This record gives sequence, C-alpha cells and structure tokens, in this order.
Amino acid sequence: MALKYLNIPEQDAIRVDMDAIQRQVVAILQAVNVPERHAQITAEILTAASLRGVDTHGVGNVTGYVQAIEEGRYTIPQSVDVVAESATTALLDCGNGLGFVAAHRAMELAIAKAKQQGVGMATVRNGHHIGMVGYYPLMAVAQDMIGMAVTNASRSMRPLHGAHPRLGTNPIAFGAPAGKERPFLLDMATTTVASGKLGLARRLGVSIPEGWAVDSEGIPLTEPPAQRSEAWAQTPLGNTLEQGGHKGYGLAVMVDILAGVLSGGGFSAQLAGGENMTWTMAIDIAAFRPVAEFKAMMDEMIQALHATPPEPGAERVLVAGDPEFDTEAERRERGIPLHATQYDAIIATARRVGAPVMI
Ligand SMILES: NC(=O)c1ccc[n+]([C@@H]2O[C@H](COP(=O)([O-])OP(=O)(O)OC[C@H]3O[C@@H](n4cnc5c(N)ncnc54)[C@H](O)[C@@H]3O)[C@@H](O)[C@H]2O)c1
Repeated sequence: MALKYLNIPEQDAIRVDMDAIQRQVVAILQAVNVPERHAQITAEILTAASLRGVDTHGVGNVTGYVQAIEEGRYTIPQSVDVVAESATTALLDCGNGLGFVAAHRAMELAIAKAKQQGVGMATVRNGHHIGMVGYYPLMAVAQDMIGMAVTNASRSMRPLHGAHPRLGTNPIAFGAPAGKERPFLLDMATTTVASGKLGLARRLGVSIPEGWAVDSEGIPLTEPPAQRSEAWAQTPLGNTLEQGGHKGYGLAVMVDILAGVLSGGGFSAQLAGGENMTWTMAIDIAAFRPVAEFKAMMDEMIQALHATPPEPGAERVLVAGDPEFDTEAERRERGIPLHATQYDAIIATARRVGAPVMI
C-alpha cells in the first residue's frame, strides 16, 4: 500500500491556479474580518500544503476555519502576545485565533534568536490548527538553518494497549537544508496516519487498511468512522507492540510535553477539539560549522541513501520530503487539484461571506 494512495482521483479533481486559489483564500478570510497580513500568512501555508500534495491540510480547509470564526470559536482579529522571553526562548499566546499566525510568528522568533545565539525556540499556547507542520521547519531551512516544529491535538490516538483515545495525532516535522539536493523534510503524524486521511477516505467512500484505527476492543476498523468518539481510536505509529507501537506512543507523548505542557496550553486529553499547541526550534548551522560544508555532507548522505539498491518490486529509495517536492514541481505546472465537493464548498463560502469568486 502506497502511503499516498489516498490522493484525489484525477477524474474528480478540478485544477486551480496556485496564485488564484491563494488570493481566493485571502479574500474569504478578509471577508470574515481577518486582518490582511494574517489572511496572507494563513493562505500561504494552506496553499503550500496543497502544492505539496498534503491535501488533507490544504486550501479546502478554509471553509472550516470560516465556520469556526462565524461560530465565535476563534477570536478575530487576534493578538499574538509574547508572554515570556529569553535570549533563546519565547512563549507566545495565540489569542484564541488562527493557529497559523502564531506558529508562523513562533518560527520567525526562533529563527531571529538562532541568528543571535545559535539556537532559538518558541512555544505557543491558546492556539488553533496550524495545518501542515512541515511548513514551519522550511522557514528555517530557507535561512540555512535546521528547523523543527511539533504540535499537539485533541484526543484521537490510543496509548499502546489502551481501549480509548487519549492523545492527538501529535505530528513532528524536521527539516535540514542540502546543497545540490533538495532539503530533507520529515513531516509526520505520530499516529499511523494523519486523521485527515480518515476524513479523505470517508469523502472518497473507500475503506481504510487494517491498522489505521481500532474499536475499544482493539478490533481493526476498515470503514472510516464518521465522528470522533471514545468507541474507537487511531493507532500510534507502529500500532502493535511487535511493530513498534510503543515508540509511536512515546513520540506522541514527547510532542505533548514540548507543545502542551511546556507552553501550559494543555496536553491532548485536556483539549476540546481543533486546538494545536506548538513548539518550534531553529538551529543555526553556521554556529557549528561552515554552511557549505554541512550542505555538501547532506548531499553525500542523501545521494548515498538514494543510491541504495531497491528491494525487488520497488522503484527507488527515497528520503523524507521527496514525494512532496515531486508533487510540488508537478502542481506548480498543472495547478492544484481540488475535489469537486471542496471546489464547490470554497465558492459557496466565498459567495456567502461576500468575497469575490476568483477560481
Ligand atoms: N496540525 C495538525 O494538527 C496535524 C496533525 C497531524 C498531521 N498533520 C499534518 O498532516 C500531514 C500528513 O502527515 P502524515 O503522517 O500522514 O504524513 P505521510 O505519512 O504522508 O508522510 C510522512 C513523511 O514520510 C515521508 N515519506 C513518504 N514516503 C516516503 C518514502 N517512500 N521514503 C521516505 N520518506 C517518505 C514524507 O516525505 C513525510 O515527510 C503532515 O503535513 C502533518 O504535519 C497536522
């Protein structure tokens, strides 16, 4: 099973121009009173996810954020405040607004501190969904730094051997620049799959492989459940003890500590739904060794991994980031495919909030 097998089928997809959809998202958000700069940051990160093939975290989600704003679950306009700060650290409050805005600010601060001190870290509390977590490390990579970000989420994953969900999908993203090669970017939920893939399976009307989710007796589910409940749970990465599920479970708790406990925003089991507490870090490579030497060794490492002979039946060996960089290259040319229902929903939302239709 290819991890990406849940892509939108080409025949159900409507291709939209990347700049047009980004402008559309900005216009929709501005129509519900999001300040222009905040709308631009959010649209940029959603478009980056769509470009990279992370469709579960892409532009289609704008309709959900608008609903959250309209229902008063988000405070708009928000103010992102620095609650505590040192030369290398910062704690931010997202102001109960768009998570993207505060996570972006956190990484900006981490990078600025790393430029001065070699390393910088920032956590965010009182935050909401930050989308594709890999976006934030790439901000550091663009500055010749190593970047890392983790975020926690409300309960959907069971602890190993647990009957009920107590952890979120708690993703980890880590990026490092290379020279001639593309950057390394590991961006992964600590569940077997991100929960958006269950949602996508529901939307496409397809079953899910055994191991993605289990009921409270531990029996594998093959129909993607409709709603979160105590009756079923996503599995930690690895699923069973034999397959390393204890490690996925441990990584999810590590994320909860860095993002939820260190920020004070709350750990997964304390969150109601839709929140993301976030931790970001930037490491200035130049504080350790000349950047060119680091990048040359990264190239050597990536080339050595790519040169691994593939097992029978496999095409080639990849490194993390390869599938998404390939998709980005293709979508920059051909446009972003939206599922027809998502396309219609974006246009309907634009009309309802009084934004011009631009796609
Ligand atoms: N904000 C949130 O609350 C939240 C929660 C969970 C996940 N997410 C996001 O969901 C997205 C999807 O997460 P996921 O866990 O389903 O990702 P995934 O399983 O699609 O990919 C995980 C990682 O594996 C790499 N990869 C894929 N195939 C590979 C191969 N053959 N060889 C080597 N590396 C390979 C990818 O480049 C990626 O870095 C991520 O962007 C994540 O940040 C967000």
